[in-house]
Amino acid sequence: MGEHDGVSALSQADSKQFVDRYERKFYYLRLSITDVCNFKCTYCLPDGYHPTGRKNSSFLDQTEIKRIVNAFADCGTTKVRITGGEPTLRKDFTDIVASVADTRGIKKVAMTTNGYRMAKQVDSWKDAGLTNINVSVDSLDPKLFHQITGENKFHDVMNGIERALEIGYEQIKVNVVLLKQYNGNALPSFLHWIKSRPIQLRFIELMQTGEMDSLFQEQHQSGVSIRNHLIANGWLLKVKEANDGPAQVFIHPDYLGEIGLIMPYEKGFCETCNRLRVSATGKLHLCLFGEEGVELRDLLQQDEQEKDLIARIQGALNTKSVSHFLQEGKTGMTPHLASIGG
Ligand code: 5AD
Ligand code: SF4
Repeated sequence: MGEHDGVSALSQADSKQFVDRYERKFYYLRLSITDVCNFKCTYCLPDGYHPTGRKNSSFLDQTEIKRIVNAFADCGTTKVRITGGEPTLRKDFTDIVASVADTRGIKKVAMTTNGYRMAKQVDSWKDAGLTNINVSVDSLDPKLFHQITGENKFHDVMNGIERALEIGYEQIKVNVVLLKQYNGNALPSFLHWIKSRPIQLRFIELMQTGEMDSLFQEQHQSGVSIRNHLIANGWLLKVKEANDGPAQVFIHPDYLGEIGLIMPYEKGFCETCNRLRVSATGKLHLCLFGEEGVELRDLLQQDEQEKDLIARIQGALNTKSVSHFLQEGKTGMTPHLASIGG
């Protein structure tokens, strides 16, 4: 037994706030609604999506999703990110957004998307109550974009971003996974792009996952050189607010956009962890890396199970580690991020 176990196990299921032994509060749920993706990003699903294992392991249905979100909302969660795979591949995606947005206590409904349907559908997402969008754009060069994602959809994605800004999203977050040979020198073009657009461009260091072979050694690039460049060129680190996650965000008076750096290999990265993940088949993941996940699905079958569901989640949280162990080359169980949501 760890020194905190006695205290933390005591009555947290009743305290209506998910916390762990390191006093991190979890008010942010990342909920995957499908593993399926239609892109083949080199660092995620290089051979495209293949259904794994048991045929009957269907994805959570709308009622199960509603029960998860209710339980989290009842324990202090105010933000839900709907993710995947590619969440918009589900036909009921907009209904799910509406149902999450309609949950008492949920103030932000975000999504992570590859953007291929955004130009056509973002209006209806907004109407359903979607408040925040993260979209991946690993290159501003259409050919390189095609090479990285396996899809020739650069212009569709860009049109989607423009449309989202047009209809009133105040800021769009754009994820760029740093890949030495593909976008290692692309900082100037990205900076130019965000000069007049309210985009938070987030450079994410490549993370090693279970199915990745030589790619990590070949392509991993640290965010340090970007940070040095920014600091040398008048960018300022934004002071973190209480609820900000692990990104370091830089701003510049001449730019409408912002730059975020996500550097999971840097010391202290996990200190501001504020999120929990639930996979598309209903497993709770305390961290992107390192564990098999805690089954929740059997407790999603009736509304009356909420108390037990909360107790199981809190019980799992009492075992959450202080940090991941990526630095030691441990990738854990996660084969690729499409399986539990990035
Ligand atoms: N390392 C870093 N980021 C990744 N993503 C997917 N796989 C990885 C990885 N191995 C990112 C995607 C997307 C988000 C869901 O996670 O680019 O922006
Ligand atoms: Fe699909 Fe996202 Fe994985 Fe790319 S990173 S293959 S868009 S799930």
